[in-house]
Amino acid sequence: MEQYGYFDDAAREYVITRPDTPSPWINYLGCEAFFTLMSNTGGGYSFYKDARMLRITRYRYNNVPTDAGGQYFYINDGGSVWTPGWMPVRAKLDAYECRHGLGYTRIMGEKDGLQARQVSMVPFGSDALVTRLTLENKSALAKDVSVFSFVEFCLWNAQDDSTNFQRNFSTGEVEIVGSAIYHKTEYRERRNHYAVYAVNAPVQGFDTDRESFLGAYRGFDSPAAVFENLSRNSVASGWSPVGSHNLKFTLAPGESKSFIFVLGYCENPQDQKFTAQDVINKAPAEKLLAMFRTDAQFDRAFDDLAGYWDGLLSIYNVSSGDEKLDRMVNVWNQYQCMVTFNMSRSASYFESGIGRGMGFRDSSQDLLGFMHLIPSRARERLIDIAATQFKDGSAYHQYQPLTKRGNFEVGSGFNDDPLWLIFGVAAYVKETGDLSILSESVPFDNDESVAESMMEHLRRSYHYTIDHRGPHGLPLIGRADWNDCLNLNCFSATPGESFQTTANFESGVAESLFISGMFVGVSDDYARLCREFGWQEEADAVPGFKQDMEQAVLKHGWDGEWFLRAYDAYGHKVGSNECDEGKIYIEPQGFLVMAGVGVKEGYAQKALDSVRKHLLSEHGVAIHTPPYTRYHLELGEISSYPPGYKENGGIFCHNNPWIVLAEAVLGHGDRAFDIYRRTCPSYITDQKLHHTEPYVYSQMVAGPYAPRFGQAKNSWLTGTAAWTFFAASQGILGIEPDFDGLKIDPCLPAFMTDVALTRKFRGSTYRIRMQNKAGGEKGRVKVVVDGCAVEGGLIPADIAPAEHEVCVTIE
Ligand code: GLC
Ligand code: GLC
Repeated sequence: MEQYGYFDDAAREYVITRPDTPSPWINYLGCEAFFTLMSNTGGGYSFYKDARMLRITRYRYNNVPTDAGGQYFYINDGGSVWTPGWMPVRAKLDAYECRHGLGYTRIMGEKDGLQARQVSMVPFGSDALVTRLTLENKSALAKDVSVFSFVEFCLWNAQDDSTNFQRNFSTGEVEIVGSAIYHKTEYRERRNHYAVYAVNAPVQGFDTDRESFLGAYRGFDSPAAVFENLSRNSVASGWSPVGSHNLKFTLAPGESKSFIFVLGYCENPQDQKFTAQDVINKAPAEKLLAMFRTDAQFDRAFDDLAGYWDGLLSIYNVSSGDEKLDRMVNVWNQYQCMVTFNMSRSASYFESGIGRGMGFRDSSQDLLGFMHLIPSRARERLIDIAATQFKDGSAYHQYQPLTKRGNFEVGSGFNDDPLWLIFGVAAYVKETGDLSILSESVPFDNDESVAESMMEHLRRSYHYTIDHRGPHGLPLIGRADWNDCLNLNCFSATPGESFQTTANFESGVAESLFISGMFVGVSDDYARLCREFGWQEEADAVPGFKQDMEQAVLKHGWDGEWFLRAYDAYGHKVGSNECDEGKIYIEPQGFLVMAGVGVKEGYAQKALDSVRKHLLSEHGVAIHTPPYTRYHLELGEISSYPPGYKENGGIFCHNNPWIVLAEAVLGHGDRAFDIYRRTCPSYITDQKLHHTEPYVYSQMVAGPYAPRFGQAKNSWLTGTAAWTFFAASQGILGIEPDFDGLKIDPCLPAFMTDVALTRKFRGSTYRIRMQNKAGGEKGRVKVVVDGCAVEGGLIPADIAPAEHEVCVTIE
């Protein structure tokens, strides 16, 4: 089978060994405010905080050739032109390697005895993409080398930049000072920020006008300036501003030379924007550039970044005997959780960065895999999310990261949204014990005049579900629940209309079994938070609400072999054996069993058996089966996809971990792990078929009914990251932060007989050793901490930080 790369576990890098991967395999640089997406061939773009509103470099989605645009270094070696990342020139290289690491990417290319190595990172604490380019002459003769850097600037608002050409071809402006190129479009009027692209050496020439650099009708693959080995020293005026430096030098045999390139974002106070008429104040840029003048400075920033990740990844670390599990849990899954926390669903190679900002449900769920890493940032995020809730408990479905305002176009009406906030806050309190978040004053719809405590927000979330129930006493679905494409109240027969926001039908009838599972599942945590907040009466009422919901599910939600998915606007069943298509859905089986519904009655076991029987395939559990072969107006977007793709019978990886967790609830260690393994990137064998990066999760893998069964799409930005980390770390390995301490409750596969784990929790460090003889079922778990047995596996949280030895035996 063709391979394109492998894991280098010791370096915590994924190594790509050839540039022509089935799709661009990318990395995310940056973890605070400045971000760069970088592919294995040097493609990608940068933005500050908000991929739509402050896009720094331009990127052309869905272009040919694929992955057009990036930070390029063209090399002219005695007339032979090439690029170390292979793209965009695509000259045949003698050697190539790309290493994606934690917050950095290395690309190496070699041709005719000249080796180019680039290391790119967004240093911790800096708003810049910093790249060191090293050229080494490995041949026996001296070489005259000419290097041309290249970036293409975006005129900030990426949406406008790709549509409003009648204006934008006239607005572009730059300044050039020495080796620094400043992009300052719109700075004079309404912006107080600019970009700088600079190199730490004198240049032989530069270009800032795209047409001058490329030449008329030429592409990134054949810039005239590079082929003629002569910069035009062009000064952009309108059209398309770019940044290109030319460096010419001679390398003796064995000699090497390095340059540091900085692409930075700078802001000025409103009253200090200019130093002279139309001359921008460059003080912040000069300060930034001074930080990366020397190799020593670069190396220090690189070490800082490594140290940052060492710290984060030391919080949860396992040695299970299965290296594929270990590398996901210890490195790549947590890394992806950081990326989904930062990006939500805004900017990837599949999300253009202009459509969606932060999702209420998406970001709430992303926190489940991020909480342990940096709880203080999770806390802030929870407050931002809650501030986009409405007074009646419903919520904006999305908000813009820069403004933190709800997205009016998408609006509200997704009835699962409110409950996710409770999941998020409960997870935060369990991780930190910090109850102060409950009293934090948070506005509704960003209106400070109607601020209430976070706890009051949670109350409105919870009661939103109670107050919006349908004919069977089950939660009304609204426009959609977690499954965005099950649009039971949006009847769209008009091309171009949005399936989700065409709210032309308010049935008051369509109900969701999935939301009922969320409601039951979150009830105990909600009651606990109420009690902590001093709301005894509300807490006392919860068991009643919970029980009513469970009864409604058992009475109206059981189909005989599995749980129903929903009732549609006509009161017809969705996800029932009675349906001719879409007979069984994954979501209710996962969420209801996770919530413990039907365990006593034997329904839960039956439901999970049905999942295995009907939905399980080599590549994971499909979202439903059989897929819809015709458009069902009353079901919405779900039936718009060809069978086997996306929500129409694809393997939607996001909900596979729910089955893992459900299996763990029933104590089936082997089955839980079996489901985990099937979608886990490190277990992929056919990289070509899989298509997307084999080191991160993708949203979807084409299901058994699709012509391209097994092919993944939409890598990186998916709730799969958080949920699989949650399922592996808490469901399988059983390290569960809880209100009163750390609960140890593993459910291991039989082969995992000896597991060592380190978990840092509320200031203490727990060194855990598990001996498992339970043979693939949960078994009896005995937990001994520093020599003393603990009740129910719960290790009470420490008052003062300490180190603990934890021995777990499972029989
Ligand atoms: C996408 C959306 C998410 C939704 C899922 C299923 O991943 O971002 O909000 O739950 O699709 O439709
Ligand atoms: C589309 C996608 C779905 C996503 C939704 C929300 O319907 O298929 O996955 O959740 O858009 O934007």
